[in-house]
Amino acid sequence: MRETSLSPHDLIWPLFVTGGDGEEPIASLPGVSRWGVCQIVEQARAARDAHIPAVALFPNTPADRRSPDGAEAHNPDNLVCQAIRAIKDALGDDIGVIADVALDPYTSHGQDGLIDAAGYVLNDETVDVLMQQAVTLAHAGADIVAPSDMMDGRIGAIRGALDHAGESRVQIMSYAAKYASAFYGPFRDAVGSRGLLKGDKRSYQMDPANAREALREVAMDVDEGADSVMVKPGLPYLDIVAMIATTFDLPVYAYQVSGEYAMIEAAVAAGAAERDALILETLTAFKRAGASGVLTYHALDAARLLNG
Ligand code: PBG
Repeated sequence: MRETSLSPHDLIWPLFVTGGDGEEPIASLPGVSRWGVCQIVEQARAARDAHIPAVALFPNTPADRRSPDGAEAHNPDNLVCQAIRAIKDALGDDIGVIADVALDPYTSHGQDGLIDAAGYVLNDETVDVLMQQAVTLAHAGADIVAPSDMMDGRIGAIRGALDHAGESRVQIMSYAAKYASAFYGPFRDAVGSRGLLKGDKRSYQMDPANAREALREVAMDVDEGADSVMVKPGLPYLDIVAMIATTFDLPVYAYQVSGEYAMIEAAVAAGAAERDALILETLTAFKRAGASGVLTYHALDAARLLNG
């Protein structure tokens, strides 16, 4: 009688890359660490072994490599490119690699794009840099690039840049309906941008009060050539996931973001709920709402539970 099912194939595991060797725990994300490039390969191998089809990579860029123009984003030797090459060398097509396209891990001001003197994020100037970043990630071996910046017009521009650079096989997963949310705090700790960011991201991320606008955002990205779209955050926005899944004919993913993960872990630590049950119930809810898959920091634990 069960209408939906959850399997490890529905999960994408976000991973944080750091310089040097080893593991750096993240205080606001208990149980999640940043990993050196060698260790990230072992994490990807564990994901592959648990039948998770893809990992999504985010870097903690060293401070001396951050700049107002975020140029490190298109350095072919940046941390994410090193990690992509290492994973692909070790595991090939056994695991998909999704690389985030946005400037916030690389800018000295923590915004996802270039800013003017007043701190306002400049759309079209940013899109030019995102095109270079996407091509750099594709050349390093990314299977999917995932623009999370929410600039307008970047999907079409990135598609054109990829095709022009001979990377027509690389897919685009668009963060199409991404809200200016209070749930991103631990992620900003993980990529080292929380202390740098002044102000907020409301001039380009969406207003949590808006639903119909999400349909317009998705329609534009579909029109520009997105292969799949994403809604973010996850659980508080399941109505948006459901609306998009019934309106559009392409895969829709949801991102159970860092603040959601932290809430679950805090509830468990407080003795308020049982961890495994919370993980499986929340992830099943995404599938019930119509999501094709979920990005979640619980992916490996969930996959291991599902694999028995
Ligand atoms: C930024 C980006 C963010 C996340 C993924 N990409 C944060 C933000 O927009 O400030 C958040 C993910 C999470 O909270 O887990 N390009």
